[in-house]
Amino acid sequence: MTAATPTLPQECLLGTPQPFFKLLELHSGQVEEYSTAIQQLRDGELTGIIVRDVYSSDFMTTVTERLEAHDPPFLKTLFPEKFKSWFYGRNLNLMGTDPTTYFQQAAEFHQQMQELLPGELGIPQRVMTALSQLDAGRPYRAAPGPEPGQDYMLTTFRGHAEGGYISAHCDNEQSVRDSYEHLGTLVGNHMYSMVLMIGASDDGGALEVFDYRVEPGEAGGRTGATAGHVDQSALSSVQIKLQPGDLVVVDSGRYLHQVTPVIGQKNRWVACSFMAKSLERNAVYCWG
Ligand SMILES: [Fe+2]
Repeated sequence: MTAATPTLPQECLLGTPQPFFKLLELHSGQVEEYSTAIQQLRDGELTGIIVRDVYSSDFMTTVTERLEAHDPPFLKTLFPEKFKSWFYGRNLNLMGTDPTTYFQQAAEFHQQMQELLPGELGIPQRVMTALSQLDAGRPYRAAPGPEPGQDYMLTTFRGHAEGGYISAHCDNEQSVRDSYEHLGTLVGNHMYSMVLMIGASDDGGALEVFDYRVEPGEAGGRTGATAGHVDQSALSSVQIKLQPGDLVVVDSGRYLHQVTPVIGQKNRWVACSFMAKSLERNAVYCWG
């Protein structure tokens, strides 16, 4: 086991100054060498971890084509209209249905996910295993629902059309929402997230992280930015550029972040999961 040594910001980070952002960048073949990396992220010592080539770009092209064709026919749900974006699957922040329906839809979503990414190419097999290896072998799995056999959706696929974006927020603020009531009993109060780049936009659509940090437990519902208390233009930031097949883990619970508007006609496609340590088991629970 080799302790992760944060590398300094590299070419994939645009913008200066960037002293606040502590990045670890590695290739998918190196994950076993960095088994403390996610613990360092949870401890606030790393801000982001990029794992290159978790999937081949050729395979990601095939997956993008199927997502564009809505094949398999995933449940499609929408962001608020101004964001010009949609989910395949159901985002827990925008629940919009009852729990029984949600968990039925989750079971169907997982079947369709296996159809899209079969066998060893599955998100659990490929992505969650890599995350587990970056976290001392701790299992990464869909958060269990309140009834036996129920699981939260492990992830969602997100499509962002031209002009689509996500405004700035810290993810820890999500935990006060009604749809987190059950999940909040299972996991600690600090969440982080992963983004798998499936299909990149021509330009824009970058994950931008700001030098603005709220410690777990201090988010108190709304971060200053969404409440209009933070002037983003006065903050340093970095933009993380990902190629299809790259995975990024970001301390999105603490750090203010946004997705910049997609430029060009090509949709941006990602898989995105939130995650937090289980309170009762040596595991990390994930949801979309
Ligand atoms: Fe977020």
